[in-house]
Amino acid sequence: MARRSLLVGFGGFLPDRVVSNDELAARLETSDDWIKTRTGITQRHIAGEHDTATSMGAAAARKALDYAGLSADDIDAVIVATSTPDQAFPATAVRIQAELGMKQGFGFDLAAACSGFIYALSTADAFIRAGQARNILVIGSEVYSRIIDWSDRGTCVLFGDGAGAVVLSGSDTPGEQGLLSTHLHSDGTAGDLLYVDGAVGRRDKSGYLKMNGRDVFRHAVAKLSSSVDEALKAEGLDYSDVAWLVPHQANIRIIEGVAKKLALPAEQVVITVDRHANTSAASIPLALDEAVRDGRIKKGDLVLMEALGGGLTWGSALARF
Ligand code: COA
Repeated sequence: MARRSLLVGFGGFLPDRVVSNDELAARLETSDDWIKTRTGITQRHIAGEHDTATSMGAAAARKALDYAGLSADDIDAVIVATSTPDQAFPATAVRIQAELGMKQGFGFDLAAACSGFIYALSTADAFIRAGQARNILVIGSEVYSRIIDWSDRGTCVLFGDGAGAVVLSGSDTPGEQGLLSTHLHSDGTAGDLLYVDGAVGRRDKSGYLKMNGRDVFRHAVAKLSSSVDEALKAEGLDYSDVAWLVPHQANIRIIEGVAKKLALPAEQVVITVDRHANTSAASIPLALDEAVRDGRIKKGDLVLMEALGGGLTWGSALARF
């Protein structure tokens, strides 16, 4: 039997400061009602002065290691999905290695915007299947509050900060559990629908997130629906086999659109967007952490994850817990 990657540890970190819709409405022309109706968001966590992709990612990683009953010495690789690293280099992953006291193994960052966690999971799985690593920390950590134009009501109400982590562990023991398959896509011709205008390599630009919300919405429902179909078809499974949908948390209406396509009742969809808003690559591992710890996701459950983000990038992952 081929080696499989088991999801054995889960952790999350959210900054202390909570910003409600009403607080935004006090300084912008928007309202709690508009934001809730269009997105499902009621609040978001916003990084404090000392919270960074590294510090938040390390905090989530410690919790995931603790859950897995592993120590940093057991980890062979750290992969961090982030669009908001502290520095161009060293990679956030390498900084996190240092925070965890790791001198062994390797680490790198991966940029796929809001699909970053699915990309990182897929990459980690490939290293494990190839026998190049046994235990990998897969982290999504984002501080979008630092790339948002807080005067743009069309985007600033949508995002929040946070980090989530999963420990993937290789197993050669025959069984049903583990990551079954991942499916990745990108289409750069749609790159101008959602992007950050500048970075350390283009300092002549603003460095702020820009978005055509309507077109992103349209792409999201269509591409995510085909992506979940692709994942189930690849494994010879059906909509009715899915116990939990753990989607990227961008907008409740996008999530409901995909759940409807799967004919999944709302009770089988893990939702955090109401409290976290869109934490980009951190949203899926944060949602997994919550649903595993509160006992919703149980051993044997088939869990379907999906995400779409700037790039455009999109993809899905199927796992048996
Ligand atoms: N508060 C109040 N009004 C707002 C607003 C806000 N925060 N943001 C935009 N508006 C206004 C617009 O200016 C526009 O006004 P106008 O008709 O006078 O021009 C009106 O609301 C409708 O704007 P529109 O952009 O068409 O709204 P929408 O129904 O498409 O909803 C989004 C906007 C952003 C909520 C929606 O397009 C969306 O969720 N898109 C996907 C975004 C996403 O998930 N991105 C991340 C993917 S990873």
